[in-house]
Amino acid sequence: MALKASQGAAYSRVEGIGAAVPSRVVDNHEMTNYIETSDEWIQQRTGIVERRWVAEGETVESLSLDAARQAMAHAGIEASEVDAVIVSTVSHLVQTPSLAAIIAAKLDTDGAAAFDISAACAGFSYGLAQADSLVRSGAARRVLVIGAETLSQITDLSDRATAFLFSDGAGAAIVGPSDVPAMGPVVWGSDGHQADVIAMNRDWNEAVETGQTSQITMQGQAVFRWATGFIADAARRTLEASGLTPDELDLFVPHQANNRITDSMLRHLKLPETVTVGRTIRTFGNNSAASIPIALDAMIASGEAKSGDTCLIIGFGAGLVYAGQVITIP
Ligand code: UT7
Repeated sequence: MALKASQGAAYSRVEGIGAAVPSRVVDNHEMTNYIETSDEWIQQRTGIVERRWVAEGETVESLSLDAARQAMAHAGIEASEVDAVIVSTVSHLVQTPSLAAIIAAKLDTDGAAAFDISAACAGFSYGLAQADSLVRSGAARRVLVIGAETLSQITDLSDRATAFLFSDGAGAAIVGPSDVPAMGPVVWGSDGHQADVIAMNRDWNEAVETGQTSQITMQGQAVFRWATGFIADAARRTLEASGLTPDELDLFVPHQANNRITDSMLRHLKLPETVTVGRTIRTFGNNSAASIPIALDAMIASGEAKSGDTCLIIGFGAGLVYAGQVITIP
């Protein structure tokens, strides 16, 4: 008897997107209570006016569940139709069990496969790439991809280099089968030689020894240089890999890291003015793996992103790692 192999759909597509942000709005004026800064400096250097931090009762799990339910509703599917759950997060503060397994159970999936990935701010695009492969290989028909962070809980609020930047939220997408191409090839990679550029400052043992929790550290200028050089070109290569020309692109939604990084990418990509650019960093800050799906959800809700639009997304961050693809808006 010959060994059987799975066979999946010809193509995959994003069927629905959802998002959830915490209720607590933290504006730049409030930031001056924690660090020596100003509203003017933060707006000029990043574009951030306000961000969201979790309040009592809000967690990375509750935000993930809210975002996932919205994505399923927008896709018009039941939890029992989800075959795999992928959660990208650096904010789930235990290594096991995965947040994905908890989400799969609380959503009442029919025992969907579930795993977390650690790809920081590139996590949503890493998740989509895996979902695309699972659907096309036949390993899953429908995959729930979540990017969720509560960075406010692992950021040193007295650190002038990071406190004003990071925020909380969750975004989700359902990826399912398609008869026509609706997700371009992933362009991705890593540079672990720069692992220390964004990193947690102590491991568990050191946390116990020092009695201090582990928090994010970042060398902002080094990340900025990498993002405006190498990553801007990776965005160009991602668009090229999709087979689309800049004229055929409707939307550009990079990781909401810093508006100046987005501006620099735009100069490099030479996109026509008809392309709508995601800039939700203004109201939601930089919430890592959640930033792209939160931006997509907001742009769909506002009518800036329409069904059938082509959208270039690219995430980049701690690792250092990056991933991007062109998707079709559901
Ligand atoms: O999402 C994961 C990936 N992360 C990123 O993509 C972040 C990339 N990096 C950045 O976005 C920027 O590096 C930051 C927004 C984090 C910082 O902006 P910067 O322009 O690189 O600031 P800097 O560290 O070069 O500091 C410039 C000036 C300095 O003053 P002088 O020496 O020019 O007088 C700092 O002392 O700004 C001052 N400064 C601040 N002022 C007010 C530094 N931090 C602050 C602050 N508030 N929080």
